[in-house]
Amino acid sequence: MYASDHNACIEDNELSIRELDIHDLDSLINVHQKIVEALPSPSLFRARGVESIRSLIGDDSSCFGIFDGKALVAYSAVRFPESGTENLGIILGFDQYEAQLVAEFEGVAVLPKYRGNGLQDVLTKARAAKAILRGRLITAARVSPENFHSLRNFLAYGMTGRKFVRLSGGYERLIVVRNHVDGENPSWMDETEVIATDFAGLNRAFDTGLELRAFDNARAKPVFVLAKRRRSTESRRRKVVRASGAMGVALGPDVIKMPA
Ligand SMILES: CC(C)(COP(=O)(O)OP(=O)(O)OC[C@H]1O[C@@H](n2cnc3c(N)ncnc32)[C@H](O)[C@@H]1OP(=O)(O)O)[C@@H](O)C(=O)NCCC(=O)NCCS
Repeated sequence: MYASDHNACIEDNELSIRELDIHDLDSLINVHQKIVEALPSPSLFRARGVESIRSLIGDDSSCFGIFDGKALVAYSAVRFPESGTENLGIILGFDQYEAQLVAEFEGVAVLPKYRGNGLQDVLTKARAAKAILRGRLITAARVSPENFHSLRNFLAYGMTGRKFVRLSGGYERLIVVRNHVDGENPSWMDETEVIATDFAGLNRAFDTGLELRAFDNARAKPVFVLAKRRRSTESRRRKVVRASGAMGVALGPDVIKMPA
């Protein structure tokens, strides 16, 4: 993979991506600490202890790293949770069938001098491919509503905001979701704008079926743009078959349990 020549610091250098294993733990901790030290606000990105970082390279998760030569310069993880209470799908009110399809993106980070080369997007697509191969057709993530760089990338990848939750430290997080079964270009109706800091108002809007699709942070008070997805009449089984064909993956009952 080549980074674009957009960022003068890495032009002409070849970057590579691979899945990390336990031997990469020290590099991962090192990059995580550098990212945390460079944050303009601690609310944007969760600082983790060593055990939490180690858990990103576990049986129930995969962590991808981007390397400049041998140096780790960016990473992100995806977790494959049981459909228990911690599953973001359950928090969103999905039924058990949908909750078992959820993969959770965790902790994407790019070292400052490598930013602006679309590396979050590269890592998001690597995580999504891994998720889909494991039969996890719904990808979800938590993002700070003030983290416009990360949110912009998640929305461009096709996720929409569905709910605000408060973390134990008191920070707000927006849960963003993409259901790969829904297809690439859904149509929308009932567009509306809500002030980006009005979390209660936004959650009330989400409860009516509105989804956060875009934002405008150039205004004095940034706004989130919400709209309702036009529901297709296609059955869930037909959607899964169509989506799996489009992704070139055989998703049968052996990979995911489909209701009859
Ligand atoms: C969020 C993050 C991973 C995005 O990095 P990225 O993939 O390199 O970002 P993009 O390639 O989409 O960058 C697009 C533009 O935004 C700018 N940008 C990206 N992140 C930025 C940041 N944190 N601060 C300032 N500008 C930033 C880029 O320089 C680029 O600007 P340009 O087009 O004028 O050159 C990165 O900002 C980061 O590691 N932040 C700290 C950790 C974090 O917040 N993680 C997300 C948790 S959900």
